[in-house]
Amino acid sequence: MMVLRGAAELSALGALRGAGPLVLVPTMGALHEGHLSLVRQGASLGPVVATIFVNPTQFGPGEDFDAYPRTLDADLALLAGASTAAVFVPSVADMYGAAGEVTVRAGRRAAGLCGASRPGHFDGVLTVVAKLFGMVRPDIAIFGSKDAQQCLVIEQMVADLRLPVTLLDAPTVREPDGMAMSSRNRYLGAADRERALCLSRALAAGRDLVAAGERVPAVVERAMRSALGPADAVDYAVVRNLPELDEGTGPLAGRVLLAVAARVGPARLIDNVALRVDAAGVEETRLLASSTRS
Ligand code: PAF
Repeated sequence: MMVLRGAAELSALGALRGAGPLVLVPTMGALHEGHLSLVRQGASLGPVVATIFVNPTQFGPGEDFDAYPRTLDADLALLAGASTAAVFVPSVADMYGAAGEVTVRAGRRAAGLCGASRPGHFDGVLTVVAKLFGMVRPDIAIFGSKDAQQCLVIEQMVADLRLPVTLLDAPTVREPDGMAMSSRNRYLGAADRERALCLSRALAAGRDLVAAGERVPAVVERAMRSALGPADAVDYAVVRNLPELDEGTGPLAGRVLLAVAARVGPARLIDNVALRVDAAGVEETRLLASSTRS
């Protein structure tokens, strides 16, 4: 596995080009099985370039940029064991230089959910992802569907800016008790970890209601919010249409996202499930159009 410790070393990626599609897996490090599943999915398609960069521009004032776990040595060992061809570990100067005046502004899909509670977050995500696309020049990029809104906002950027990259989303990896894996789970002590189970339980409650025939979004949202009772604060518990994340006007139908965000102890956590609801019934679905085709 090549470890490229700065933009000046990126030309080494030339050795990987031509050996199948080049696959980018962007991360902020603090890796867990969810990230490794993205790498494994990527490695089945072509050489994988993982990136590790805690991107300052996607954190708002008072958020956890300073506290975000930085575990580079452990991350490199995990990536080496997961068939990663190269890891790019840029510095802030590599990504933003002295000025960093030009940025990407997220579109309509970033208006609600995390975009509403974390102003500017998705502009920071898109700006760094666009730069990574420009630097690594991947054919394919894979993102975890736990960050559903992020996947959809990036999909919109790729379409609107005509970027020559195919996006894939990979299913959320869960602990045996249903908790979605997240780097921020490291913030949780045992008692908070137990309470944090309310997020996956809220989604299960919503999904079960829909599976039982409930089609009124407000009823599903009420059930999810009530299951989030153990959290310290609920940010949102919503049903949205896919892919635009709009509220919809009538009964729940087609591809929909059940999404929750809540604060538990020191951690702000998110989780979601994407469902296809039609006459044949209700089943889990992938988020991105290119994933449903692959
Ligand atoms: O999902 C993440 O870890 C980050 O938002 C990303 C995509 C690596 C951009 O910094």
